Amino acid sequence: MNSELSPRVTRWRGNLLRLNSAQDARIESDQVIEVDEQTGSIRLIRPPQPGEKVEHDHRGRLIAPGFIDTHVHFPQLDVIGSPAEGLLPWLEQHTFPTETLFCDPGHAKAVADVFIDELLRHGVTTAAVYCTSHPASVEAFMQASLARDLAMIAGKVLQDRHSPPGLHDDTEQSLRDTEALIGRWHGKARLHYAITPRFAPTSTERQLAGAGEIARAFPDVFVQSHVAENRQEIDWVRSLFPGDRSYLAVYERFGLVRPRSIWGHCIYLDDRDRALLKDHDALAAVCPTSNLFLGSGLFNFSEAAHRWTLASDIGGGSSFSPFRSMMAAYEIARLGGHYLSPSTLWWHASAGSAAALGLDHRLGSIQAGNDADFIVIDPATKPLLARRWAAAASDQARLFALIVLGDDRTIRHTVVRGRIAPLSDQAASSSSLSPR
Ligand code: GUN
Ligand code: ZN
Repeated sequence: MNSELSPRVTRWRGNLLRLNSAQDARIESDQVIEVDEQTGSIRLIRPPQPGEKVEHDHRGRLIAPGFIDTHVHFPQLDVIGSPAEGLLPWLEQHTFPTETLFCDPGHAKAVADVFIDELLRHGVTTAAVYCTSHPASVEAFMQASLARDLAMIAGKVLQDRHSPPGLHDDTEQSLRDTEALIGRWHGKARLHYAITPRFAPTSTERQLAGAGEIARAFPDVFVQSHVAENRQEIDWVRSLFPGDRSYLAVYERFGLVRPRSIWGHCIYLDDRDRALLKDHDALAAVCPTSNLFLGSGLFNFSEAAHRWTLASDIGGGSSFSPFRSMMAAYEIARLGGHYLSPSTLWWHASAGSAAALGLDHRLGSIQAGNDADFIVIDPATKPLLARRWAAAASDQARLFALIVLGDDRTIRHTVVRGRIAPLSDQAASSSSLSPR
């Protein structure tokens, strides 16, 4: 459509999910969201006027902030559902061989497009993404994200030891590549870079030190890695870094534990590690479906006084759906004698994640001035969900019904910067995107 003919403001009508805190989620019935299509931001939210007609009428549906996935590997799209006897055999048998294919820019681009389709199909509008050790994989992911105007965090994986030939970094080149990629992508449109040492066992001290130096030079760049995921892995770290008090302390020694650092898993932390995360304003990315699938362990929700967020960890994780991550987190917490309310679960999958990442001035909640990244959730897309939704006596019960029974069919639209995000695999039949 000619942009001169399109209206500057589009209006979305529906029930609005407000996430005020980890304890306070509520549904405001029948609101209108006005979106400025040119800036892609929310202008204002107001009750409908009598007889008002809007461009996007979703009465009876729920309009919620887009989900945020704080730990996910785009090159592991084709690893999902690969069984192994724990993390280290899984990396060796499935993950590393699959990641070696990303030296091919054409392959990286094709997978990036499908991966982003899957995120959007499941209502995820922002993610912290691991690419592979090949700079071409970052190029492919950032280009694909830019083309869809997405707010994404991503980085080249650093791994200069204990890695197969097709993934093995040259140490100095890997650091130069990281700096070049920061210069090229960090702050472009809505993209952010993350310095991404894979995990301590696959980086030399020199590579970790270099990553720490780059982190110091770029304080607003993200850092992401894995920590304390699996007992065998922890034993390995202890043997490789015998002088360090703990696994997390290795990263601390190199200046990597800091605000905007995202630590995947954090299952086997002690009190001092947890205090370290808290004191440095770092965050744990909790990956419950992955921890169950790989048999890694159960995150201790009761002791988590530091920031934590929910993540899929595809392809160790078994689902892109934040509903599945919330459900698995709930079950893991229950096994530990802890209760996570629907408000808490939803908070740690969107608004709370935006806050933990320092991005809540633009993302994570539907409010005037924020980027118009939101989803339309339709409880009527599944008969049993529709029934539970209709019978629910409270907002908490409605949110819980979605967590337990929702899936990608439940996400009617994913809206990015005020526009319905087209999926690349549906581009040829885009009319089928809005069958209303
Ligand atoms: N530790 C190091 N690399 C990985 C990875 O790709 N996935 C998971 N789950 N853990 C890791
Ligand atoms: Zn991971």
